[in-house]
Amino acid sequence: MKKKSSYNVAVVGAKGAVGSEMIKILEERKFPVADLRLFGSARSKGTSARFQGRDVPVRELKFEPDEFQGIDIVLSSPGALVSTKFVPHAIKTGAVVIDNTSAFRMHPKVPLVIPEINPEDIKKHKGIIANPNCSAIIMLMAVAPLHRKNPIKRILCSTYQSASGAGAKAMRELETQTRDVLDGKPIKKEVFPHQIAFNLFSHNSTIEENGYNEEELKMIQEAHKILHDDSIRIATTCVRVPVFRAHSEAIYIEFERKMPLEQAHNILSKAPGIKLVDDQKSNHFPMPIEASGGNDVLVGRLRVDLSCKNGLVLFVSGDQLRKGAALNAIQIAEKLIQKN
Ligand SMILES: NC(=O)c1ccc[n+]([C@@H]2O[C@H](COP(=O)([O-])OP(=O)(O)OC[C@H]3O[C@@H](n4cnc5c(N)ncnc54)[C@H](OP(=O)(O)O)[C@@H]3O)[C@@H](O)[C@H]2O)c1
Repeated sequence: MKKKSSYNVAVVGAKGAVGSEMIKILEERKFPVADLRLFGSARSKGTSARFQGRDVPVRELKFEPDEFQGIDIVLSSPGALVSTKFVPHAIKTGAVVIDNTSAFRMHPKVPLVIPEINPEDIKKHKGIIANPNCSAIIMLMAVAPLHRKNPIKRILCSTYQSASGAGAKAMRELETQTRDVLDGKPIKKEVFPHQIAFNLFSHNSTIEENGYNEEELKMIQEAHKILHDDSIRIATTCVRVPVFRAHSEAIYIEFERKMPLEQAHNILSKAPGIKLVDDQKSNHFPMPIEASGGNDVLVGRLRVDLSCKNGLVLFVSGDQLRKGAALNAIQIAEKLIQKN
């Protein structure tokens, strides 16, 4: 990709929860967009999205070889199956694809990037840069700065994941079910396997042979790839909670050496993309309601882990549609054009 003053950008999955956020963030951060091309499925044909005061039409993605002609950067979030099909066409016409799906994340030749953590990996790309899993991003934003100062031996992480992590329809399902329960009507389950209103359940992804679900395994595998360190022992439990937006996580970390609380505070207060919310006096710690719509991952409840020698416990909340997806992808695009 040649250096230019502005770039032709495509958003695939433009009407989805992540795609809509991408369009907003492109405008918010004044990304140098020359032309914006939006793609969706046949369902979105004839619709449009607002960008810089105008309505940009959404085209139907047809998986044709020349659909991305002239496009420099593709921001993609249409689900893994769709990405697997269209991305090879986009690369052939010279675009760089920043993909939010799980389609290419663990491919050895595809960089998996959180710009605050491993921006140097961007330059290794061969046309695709993968955006990590949202829960992995939110965990690693807090964990990576600590790991750099004092290597981590083990992480235990439990998530409290919002409905919007499963897309726009899932968010509507939480709203409708909540109204129906309060109105005493029977609830409908279309996206989630269980009632999400006034309930919580183990993450709605496939359970693998070892008993972990896909989301839990993604967090482990992707953390190893991003930190370039397979030696860290990680176990995860992923849970869906009746929150509209922003994932929260309880993280137990065991370090090689002691990590005094003051040092952890100091490291985290200087780390980019993080905001410390750790007010014990007023019992004010990270909450999804305060993380929603923001760019920073909120980190707090720092405590010594009483159950292990060099342990630390913390709690985080981050807007998974922004830092866990759309914002992270646009930050990658910003680094990409800087590197040019
Ligand atoms: N939600 C999150 O917090 C989050 C975070 C990180 C990563 N991700 C990943 O990002 C992807 C999208 O997630 P989402 O939450 O935005 O889901 P979503 O709200 O369901 O949106 C998915 C979008 O993909 C589009 N799509 C489906 N089939 C298509 C096709 N054949 N051609 C073109 N577009 C097609 C849909 O378009 P139509 O509306 O036109 O049918 C829809 O707008 C998933 O892979 C997900 O794992 C999501």
